[in-house]
Amino acid sequence: MPSLRAPWRPRRRPPTEPNRRFALGERAVADLVAPAAIAESRAQIAIDANAARILALTDYPRHVSPNWIGRLIDFDEPLDLSLHLEPLDSGDVVRSLTHRMVELQSSRMLDAKGGRIASVEREVAYEDVERLRDALERGDERVFSTGLYLGLHGRTTGELDDAAARIEGVLGGMMAGARPALYEMLPGLLSCLPAGQDHLRRRRNLDTSSVATMIPFGSSHLAVARGLLYGENVHNHSLVIFDPFSADQENANKVVFAKSGAGKSYACKVEALRALLLGIEYLVIDPEDEYGRICEAVGGQMIRLSGTSAHHINPFDLPATTDDEGRDPLAERVLALQGLLALMLAEPGASLGPRERGALDAALYETYRDAGITEERATHGRPPPVLGDLLAVLRASDEPYGLADRLARYVGGSLGHVFSERTSASLDRPFVVFNIRDLEEELRPVATYLIADHVWREVTRDPRPRVLLIDEAWSLMRYPEGARFLGEMARRARKRWLGVTTVTQDVQDFLGSAAGHTVLANSSVQLLMRQDSSTVGIVEETFGLSRGEREFLLGCSKGEGLFLARGNHIALRVEASPLEHALSTTSPEFLATLSNPETNSGVDAP
Ligand SMILES: Nc1ncnc2c1ncn2[C@@H]1O[C@H](COP(=O)(O)OP(=O)(O)O)[C@@H](O)[C@H]1O
Ligand SMILES: [Mg+2]
Repeated sequence: MPSLRAPWRPRRRPPTEPNRRFALGERAVADLVAPAAIAESRAQIAIDANAARILALTDYPRHVSPNWIGRLIDFDEPLDLSLHLEPLDSGDVVRSLTHRMVELQSSRMLDAKGGRIASVEREVAYEDVERLRDALERGDERVFSTGLYLGLHGRTTGELDDAAARIEGVLGGMMAGARPALYEMLPGLLSCLPAGQDHLRRRRNLDTSSVATMIPFGSSHLAVARGLLYGENVHNHSLVIFDPFSADQENANKVVFAKSGAGKSYACKVEALRALLLGIEYLVIDPEDEYGRICEAVGGQMIRLSGTSAHHINPFDLPATTDDEGRDPLAERVLALQGLLALMLAEPGASLGPRERGALDAALYETYRDAGITEERATHGRPPPVLGDLLAVLRASDEPYGLADRLARYVGGSLGHVFSERTSASLDRPFVVFNIRDLEEELRPVATYLIADHVWREVTRDPRPRVLLIDEAWSLMRYPEGARFLGEMARRARKRWLGVTTVTQDVQDFLGSAAGHTVLANSSVQLLMRQDSSTVGIVEETFGLSRGEREFLLGCSKGEGLFLARGNHIALRVEASPLEHALSTTSPEFLATLSNPETNSGVDAP
């Protein structure tokens, strides 16, 4: 047993007789704070009139959320909580893990030889050991010898029993367990003093990630010097500040999952308003027609795409500014137009044949030539042609594939309108909304392509920090083109200083699709808001949530959620200022007060 020298009694040199007599009359700090007497017994230690009992944590919970120890800290009786951490040498640990792996492997081989079925537990153990060993070798993790002791206080044995029973209840609720340090109450007490000495040495080996979950507040705290305020930490009220474009993030993409009405769009709008202040620009695909007020307030551009609206995007537009790199903007445009036309003219799910494409290629160049635009850069500033001009060229060329007839409905007929006129919107504002609520179902794939094409043209032309916000993304992803668009965007965004935010309530469908997987795999940040029982399972599994986090997502209120970034899981609440709220809410009651000056909410029109 280690020496039990009490830390409050400094060792002195043997005093001479006169000094000793003098010292008897001296008073040291220790004399003032030390108890008059302590008496150690089997399961408690009496300190003056009080008693203490020391418990050591012996069973650690299998599933933990950050700061699970907080439940002990919040225990409503005085409690000493003492956490001892001692890093172990990774080399030694790797050696003993390797040894363990050899043992497991040989019993595996024995079983195989004897024709016995592999034991599941052993397979899991083997994987665990292997994973830990790899992490240690890479230096991602370390192993800590960890001791956690609880000091309970009471006046009587009865009180101590009572407190011990209740703390065991709390621990039991977390699937953990503690035992009293029987016959070792004094070493236990010393281990609970803020002296950093562990005399009990009831240790468990834990890796860094597990230890991190025990540091109170530590891992549930996320704040950087420069960034966006995402909300307030529900547990400790610290601010969650995060820079989506920070260099140590793999990408600036984000997914937002929650059931309808949980506050997804609201959170994104509040974020957008704050991001704009930092000079981050926004492109929004808005299928619900709810970004209009923000757009107006920040001087953005709203582009309504529908068969009857006045807004058009002309796919023939050439990039406004030309950059070097020896690229051929006209050829790139013709390629993009080929993609669009394939969507318009081919049978659903099919593509155009090589002859048809050849004919289109010639017709496209001719259409540009008729407008005076050639490979010559100087001609690119001239007014571009429109889809109608292409139709005229096709008709004149009497191609045998009936391309002209198929194109006609996009030029004249009811579908025409949207794509067959000069671009009527200025697309270089810091906030551009593509409102597709009223867009005919039939036109959505084409419109998606067009928007994607436009966004990509913008981000390649002039890289700036931008966010492409796709609200209710599933309404796009149902179409193969939409899914492809989104997957591509998420994969390639980082190089173009673009962050793609994907919002959806159709978690199941989203995660079931290949494009959804691509988007998720390329998203550094996830915001999970309220779920219901039908979606919580898949969310829990996909994001490796703890039981506590699962319960939180089932029970949290509007505007609350889990923010997952950089390995942190933070329960946060989105809080908006009155002005932000006025611009972001879709609550009909609130909107009624806005339009009625008598009951104006007091928020000045921005
Ligand atoms: N953090 C919040 N604070 C206050 N109200 C909120 C908050 N989040 C959502 N709401 C209210 O709930 C409504 C629905 O939220 P919304 O973001 O549109 O849900 P959805 O998840 O379906 O996009 C909003 O119009 C707003 O009034
Ligand atoms: Mg919404």
